[in-house]
Amino acid sequence: MSLPRAERLRALGLWPTWRKRGAMAASVTAGAPPGGQERVAAASDTTAIASMDWDALREAVSNCTRCDLHRTRTQGVFGVGDPHAEWLIVGEAPGADEDRLGEPFVGQAGRLLDAMLAAIGLKRGENVYIANVLKSRPPRNRDPNAQEVAACLPYLERQVELIQPKLVLALGRFAAQSLLVTDTAISRLRGQVHSYRGIPLVVTYHPAYLLRNPADKARAWEDLLLAQETMARLGARALAASSSP
Ligand code: URA
Repeated sequence: MSLPRAERLRALGLWPTWRKRGAMAASVTAGAPPGGQERVAAASDTTAIASMDWDALREAVSNCTRCDLHRTRTQGVFGVGDPHAEWLIVGEAPGADEDRLGEPFVGQAGRLLDAMLAAIGLKRGENVYIANVLKSRPPRNRDPNAQEVAACLPYLERQVELIQPKLVLALGRFAAQSLLVTDTAISRLRGQVHSYRGIPLVVTYHPAYLLRNPADKARAWEDLLLAQETMARLGARALAASSSP
């Protein structure tokens, strides 16, 4: 292992204790069919969102009143990074720092996320886009409810359509379960490559969880390696397709 990688792993708190992924087989599972969540927002709004361009979408998020969270938030948090990124990172919802600054993952969890990205050679803003399922902060960081998810998900869906990422990394139970429309435990969602609207999706722990449970950083490292390997396979496949006659 080269020194820079060791240094990156140390920054993540994984070196020298990380274990290489062994028994976990990468398999492809289809996401459960949609429909489990209550669709409460006006259908016409949802239709309009589905055809917005990037600027209109950003504007719609900042003016959004589709759920009650707009009453308590400081601002909508649209996302950050390269709108043509190959990597899309999806978290849960803005916290207090994000609500104040208008950017996802800028607090302590964000610093760990940056270290996780660095561990696989990625950097916020460079071929990476970071967004949340919810664009508005739930008061006191409570769990988002089904109505809020149903109201907000069309924004993320449109972001995915416009970004066209090659891979989605879902951070934590909430993001994974919302995107895959399942209530399967995160422990069972990890270690596989799922499909979100035809895009490979890998699940890992939320950085805030890892701050509270540092022993699970080794498992997060396994997930990051799976994501990195999946992306490498996608690149190799694209290269083969472009060079075949
Ligand atoms: N947690 C999240 O899920 N998203 C953020 O933007 C910040 C903390």
